[in-house]
Amino acid sequence: MIVTRRAVLAGIGSSAALVALGNLAACAGSDEPTASGPDDTSPGGPFTAPVELASRDGALDVTLVAEAATVDLGTRTRWALAYNGTTPGPTLRIRPGDLLTVTLENRLDEPTNLHTHGLHVSPEGDADNVFVMVEPGGQRTYRYRIPDDHRSGTFWYHPHHHGTVATQVFAGMAGAIVVEDAIDRLPGLADATSRVLVLSDPNIGDGPAVLGTSMMGRMTGREGDAILVNGTPNPRIDARTGTLEHWRVVNASPSRFYAIRLDGAPLHRIATDGGRLDAPQPLDELVLVPGERAEVLVPIATAGTHRLVTRTVDRGGMGMMGGGGAPADATTVIATLVADGADQPPPSLPTALADVEDLTRTPADRTRTVTLAMAMGMGMGMGGDGGDGQLTIDGRTFDPERVDITTSLGTVEDWVLTNTSTMDHPFHLHVWPFQVVDGGDARAERAWRDTVNVPAGGSVRIRIPFRDLAGRTVYHCHILDHEDLGMMGTIDTQG
Ligand code: C2O
Ligand code: CU
Ligand code: CU
Repeated sequence: MIVTRRAVLAGIGSSAALVALGNLAACAGSDEPTASGPDDTSPGGPFTAPVELASRDGALDVTLVAEAATVDLGTRTRWALAYNGTTPGPTLRIRPGDLLTVTLENRLDEPTNLHTHGLHVSPEGDADNVFVMVEPGGQRTYRYRIPDDHRSGTFWYHPHHHGTVATQVFAGMAGAIVVEDAIDRLPGLADATSRVLVLSDPNIGDGPAVLGTSMMGRMTGREGDAILVNGTPNPRIDARTGTLEHWRVVNASPSRFYAIRLDGAPLHRIATDGGRLDAPQPLDELVLVPGERAEVLVPIATAGTHRLVTRTVDRGGMGMMGGGGAPADATTVIATLVADGADQPPPSLPTALADVEDLTRTPADRTRTVTLAMAMGMGMGMGGDGGDGQLTIDGRTFDPERVDITTSLGTVEDWVLTNTSTMDHPFHLHVWPFQVVDGGDARAERAWRDTVNVPAGGSVRIRIPFRDLAGRTVYHCHILDHEDLGMMGTIDTQG
């Protein structure tokens, strides 16, 4: 069964295969009529949201059980690593000032741990400490004090056990974290239909064999054979004309870049990784690199079927070996919006959102260059791990015992992220959000981020205020295979 399916998928090319997967789900789905898009792409099963766990009276206390699970895909099941039996795991909905307590129970047969990607919380002790591990059969309670002035936005959690991060996330271990504040109650936003869309691209199969990947696959960054939204291939999102959809989109794929458009309806971005923008920003295309999130508003004006598609992004390859995979610019349907009702003028959008600081007005106290590099040669194609020395930051692979960068609270730094390789690397810094002040394909913009793409051969200047929260944590490439192969450094911020 797996062999047949995988053979079929391999035979018809990834873009068509992904569409086929959506169609299969539709055939065996309900007896509701399915609308056909211009390419006769029918939606799959209904859109489902992850379970939501919301704080009350300043606290959210949850248990996440990490365990292998068989999850439903509509027409068949698939093997996954899940939190509380689902992938994505539950959405954690919190507010500034909350105490978030998460007990992680490890029922895997390998170590794991937990990272709250994008939260501005302490990296020390029992908070967002990625240096501690939870052994199989063990458990650990994390306590995260969310600062009173934490920005609202969309964040996420996933394992951070160096060496197996890509595998565990690829297998399904990820969930959204929503931080809400007064912005969510603004007229317009308060009445919008708010949804979390966690994007993943696993291999579909009945057992752990779906995790198999080659050294070459790890060097280029593994991509799976399906694209799922909250675990469903091409879900059908039912909406009504005259309403506003508010989507929180999380790229939880280990390596896949998304470039998303909705046919027949514009996307207006209201948040980047690090929080809300000052005003909605119309987008031709929403690009999300691995680890990145955005929130978009979608005014629904015209009735009918609108396909949400992603374009294959050329993220470079390893020189003469090439990147492989689908041709750049091939599109894949990832969800289908079915708008019901009479055509209406688009609902109006909120005009003023957050008060976003303009960091270009704050001079940096010092500038450093951080160099991302890939060396070819040794170990390639030889099977073994062979990764050492190939994927580096400032010439070194990750060593948890070493401190690579020391900074001081109360200072602002510019990091010139420089990529000397032939492949893009999405750079991510834990704990301290930054703004892009210059360069790359990431325009300088007044927006907070924790992940930014550093294009092949290019550089990006980011400005990082180290205002509070001392401690030691990491920065790395968020193509998670690259992180596992050593493209990660440590930073110690001293108070
Ligand atoms: Cu989402 Cu250290 O990463
Ligand atoms: Cu992170
Ligand atoms: Cu990388």
